[in-house]
Amino acid sequence: MARIETALTRLLGIDHPIFTAPMSGIAGGALANAVSHAGGMGIIGPGADAASIRREVAAAGNARVAIGFITWRLERNPLALDVALETGPAAVLLSFGDSTAWFPRIRAAGCKIICQVQTLALARAALDAGADILIAQGRDAGGHSGAMRGTIGLVPAVVDIAGSVPVVAAGGIADGRGLAAALALGASGVSMGTRFTATRESLWSDGRKAAVVGGEGDQTVQTRIYDTLNDPDWPRTFPARMLRNPTFDRWEHKEAELEASAETERARFQATPPDDLSQRMVLAGEAVDLIHDVPSARNLVERIVAEAIEAMRRGAGSIRD
Ligand SMILES: Cc1cc2nc3c(=O)[nH]c(=O)nc-3n(C[C@H](O)[C@H](O)[C@H](O)COP(=O)(O)O)c2cc1C
Repeated sequence: MARIETALTRLLGIDHPIFTAPMSGIAGGALANAVSHAGGMGIIGPGADAASIRREVAAAGNARVAIGFITWRLERNPLALDVALETGPAAVLLSFGDSTAWFPRIRAAGCKIICQVQTLALARAALDAGADILIAQGRDAGGHSGAMRGTIGLVPAVVDIAGSVPVVAAGGIADGRGLAAALALGASGVSMGTRFTATRESLWSDGRKAAVVGGEGDQTVQTRIYDTLNDPDWPRTFPARMLRNPTFDRWEHKEAELEASAETERARFQATPPDDLSQRMVLAGEAVDLIHDVPSARNLVERIVAEAIEAMRRGAGSIRD
């Protein structure tokens, strides 16, 4: 099949400029394996404990994969980075906070550093410290992201300061049109989370995948309510985008009340069945509109590349000299 070659594919030695985003409890070894074997870069999001890192790297088998960490969680369990580096990943991805203190250890292990940033300030800090690849993540993204910057404005602004460092676009991208648009903004590739949650290899339950397939971008909200009920340690600067559900409706505009009884409400919420989606919340980004099926990750990567090539050819066809 035709390919799209960029600074990112050359740097990582991959065929297609597509990352599957690290997503704890979703992007395990099976998904990373499938994406890497399809020619993209599979990134495991194992969480910061040694047992899950070893389990998911083993599940990735012989595939060359990267490992992603949430920076503020790594700070509480720094040995997790050593466990990850011992497995010889293609790269380590750090996100959510200033990650630069970790760079020397990653570089000393001969490993590439990918930094997911949500603002220009975080991008500048990562570039100054020598990141190999930046992911510019806009607030359209599913899961946690910055509250301020949208993808279409942030990506070219990061590209403009990144020099020869490849920039990957994240947030709101779920098909080949999104990949073509990211390339037009100067990015060298895309990182997709929401789209990959609804693949055969994703670790999510069928119920959660169905919620993504049936979801609409208009029904996504960026909120603190998710973390108040799940993990209040998340920094408030990174709210989570999720599909609106009855739990959100119950607390919308009553966040002060929720905070005041947070411990009781959290205990009550955590006692509900994990797959009861009338209560539990599903993280998803604005691109949920574009998701209509649950394909294999290989099928998805190939489809997105083919669609992007078609979109770029169509675009070029409208040029009149
Ligand atoms: C369900 C879900 C879980 C996520 N978990 C993580 C995570 O554990 N670590 C991380 O760095 N990013 C996480 N993200 C954010 C992704 O890295 C990525 O930036 C985002 O998915 C891109 O936007 P998109 O969802 O529109 O593709 C998650 C995203 C989703 C949708």
